[in-house]
Amino acid sequence: MTGQERYEEFVPSSATLTDHVAEYERDIDQVLITREEIQTKIELLGEEITGDYRGEDLLLIGVLKGAFVVMADLSRHIRLPLQFDFMAVSSYGASTKTSGVVRILKDLDLEIEGRNVLLVEDIIDSGLTLAYLLKNLQTRRPASLEVCALFRKTEVQQVAVNIRYQGFELPPVFVVGYGLDFNERYRNLPYLATLKPEVYREALP
Ligand code: IMP
Ligand code: MG
Repeated sequence: MTGQERYEEFVPSSATLTDHVAEYERDIDQVLITREEIQTKIELLGEEITGDYRGEDLLLIGVLKGAFVVMADLSRHIRLPLQFDFMAVSSYGASTKTSGVVRILKDLDLEIEGRNVLLVEDIIDSGLTLAYLLKNLQTRRPASLEVCALFRKTEVQQVAVNIRYQGFELPPVFVVGYGLDFNERYRNLPYLATLKPEVYREALP
């Protein structure tokens, strides 16, 4: 068996529900975006960012927890010297509605004054989290501040935010996978999916 064949056996070329977390399959309603579609988009975004920042200093800031997956994949398609930092903000907890209240749970380790900052987000829903973060980071006087968001729910935006690098537009539904959770689960699914209604009902107190 060649190395390539062994690789293909290990990493199936087309992701289906049955080749990942078997225990999650009964909870999944629909796969909205496949692993292949996500990976193709990430590669394109990485190439675009590489072109735009060539010869410049660049600092990626990931918003935890959701963005750790897109950060890992995207950064390997940015063929430039890079630095990383992370912020953690409060999100929905066990609810699927945004609270509008953003709390910084972990601040940056690095100073960003005078630096080119690219904020990497998993998903923009109401835009409240992002608007808050941008305002907060802007006060630290970076040389530039742009946003890369893999997913964006277009119909529910409450705050206008400028997304320089955008992946997929989504309908206003709650989604999991590729870093996104419900009740801290499903983050490791390589695709984006909706959950069956009974999954939410079972989680209610
Ligand atoms: P926003 O402040 O309403 O834009 O919410 C942004 C944050 O809420 C994201 O970074 C996610 O952590 C979380 N979020 C928004 N929509 C979803 C979803 O459909 N599934 C899982 N998490 C979501
Ligand atoms: Mg969350």
